[in-house]
Amino acid sequence: MANRITINTDLTSGTINRNIYGHFSEHLGRCIYEGIWVGEDSPIPNTNGIRNDVVAALKQLNIPVLRWPGGCFADEYHWKDGIGPRESRKRMINTHWGGVVENNHFGTHEFLMLCEMLECEPYISGNVGSGTVQEMSEWVEYMTFEGVSPMADLRRENGREEPWNVKYFGVGNENWGCGGNMRPEYYADLYRRYQTYVRNYGENKIHKIACGPNVDDYRWMEVVMREAHGMMDSISLHYYTIPGANWSEKGAATGFSEDEWYSTLKKALWMDELITRHSTIMDKYDPSKRIGLIVDEWGTWFDVEPGTNPGFLYQQNTIRDALVAGVTLHIFHDHCDRVQMANIAQVINVLQSVILTEGEKMLLTPTYHVFDMYKVHQGADLLTTAIESQDYAHNNEKIPQVSVSASKNAEGRIHISLCNLDNDAAADVEIDLRGLAGLGVAVSGTELTASIKDAHNTFDQPEAVKPTAYHAFTVNGSTISAKLSPMSVTVLELISE
Ligand code: AHR
Repeated sequence: MANRITINTDLTSGTINRNIYGHFSEHLGRCIYEGIWVGEDSPIPNTNGIRNDVVAALKQLNIPVLRWPGGCFADEYHWKDGIGPRESRKRMINTHWGGVVENNHFGTHEFLMLCEMLECEPYISGNVGSGTVQEMSEWVEYMTFEGVSPMADLRRENGREEPWNVKYFGVGNENWGCGGNMRPEYYADLYRRYQTYVRNYGENKIHKIACGPNVDDYRWMEVVMREAHGMMDSISLHYYTIPGANWSEKGAATGFSEDEWYSTLKKALWMDELITRHSTIMDKYDPSKRIGLIVDEWGTWFDVEPGTNPGFLYQQNTIRDALVAGVTLHIFHDHCDRVQMANIAQVINVLQSVILTEGEKMLLTPTYHVFDMYKVHQGADLLTTAIESQDYAHNNEKIPQVSVSASKNAEGRIHISLCNLDNDAAADVEIDLRGLAGLGVAVSGTELTASIKDAHNTFDQPEAVKPTAYHAFTVNGSTISAKLSPMSVTVLELISE
């Protein structure tokens, strides 16, 4: 039986904020060092120390915003250790992540240079857990003040005359956990205090982001919103998809069972309920939805690859991850009235990465390809869509087999993304396009799929999973009939005729 989809091509229900396609980079494992920063003397081709291959691959994704320096690392990071001549920068222990020595060679100047290369907005996470108000305030002054001041002068001494534009600033990270183990009442008071000194200098207007809840901690959301909603522009939410029952049995990134395939996708879909319920609490204090919900850490979290440093969180990335990315991005689209940004964790070599590296080698993961295929939705108008999906049943449970999202861009092009969550059965879909201006549509498509459920790219076979042209559809007037391959992500492009 067909999955029936109705798309109102003339009815939009909001704009998909392009920041939903944001990324996250932390001083963790091989994300920054090797993944991004190799240093000017490296044999790996680089520009001012930053890998050229990685910059080119990320530019292709039109990445809108990049979060840094953590994560848990942020609340132990003291920014002044990461400025000035690199040889004399302080070395510290990265206590959270593997106990390795952090030489601070990648600091504020290097990060903001990376953002300039990527043409994306920087999103800086400030240190509330172990940093002072003065330290946070001076960081903002250092980066954004144009005139004469101690921090602006110091920036000039370090070679940067003009201030940078820094729009997004997080006041703490996971302050309910690694960022200080605080109660929401205490954090809310600290937030009010710290954010006071996060100043706007000149033209630079900072979007202040409060630390929001872990997963379904609705009390945290309630208290922080109640106490501080008038002093924030956004509040964060963190939710990771783990297939296993708990953090000590997360499950492997490859070689997993059918049960784990199913539970991963089922748990990814939980994001919808989390956003709905947090947003309902936010509505109480912010009915006009001025405040954004920023899902600044999301993605799959599996057991680390055997033989790798457990503190480095390095995991492979399969077609299962591609489906997690596809359905999660659809959920963010559906909540575009509230979700203003999201940052998948993490961009390179850590958790659900879009890029993996091994020395000078680099590969693009299945998740990368979803971000590439879906970039057409960035900044587009979300079209109202209804679906009657068949079930994907497993044991005595079921989830919808098909997930869909559709948008129309400024040129009037319509893009429909479709995920078939079932790794065994194809899905017949019938798409009824209502409200088309012309007589019909010209349709083209791209598909990402695989023949085994843990298909992934390796440094020997970097293109085992990659998008291909998709032709398994027919168009009859305003109806598209398509057959989605098992475990697939498909994007259709429609041009009105
Ligand atoms: O992304 C890895 C870690 O997960 C981050 O450092 C932290 O914020 C979260 O717990």
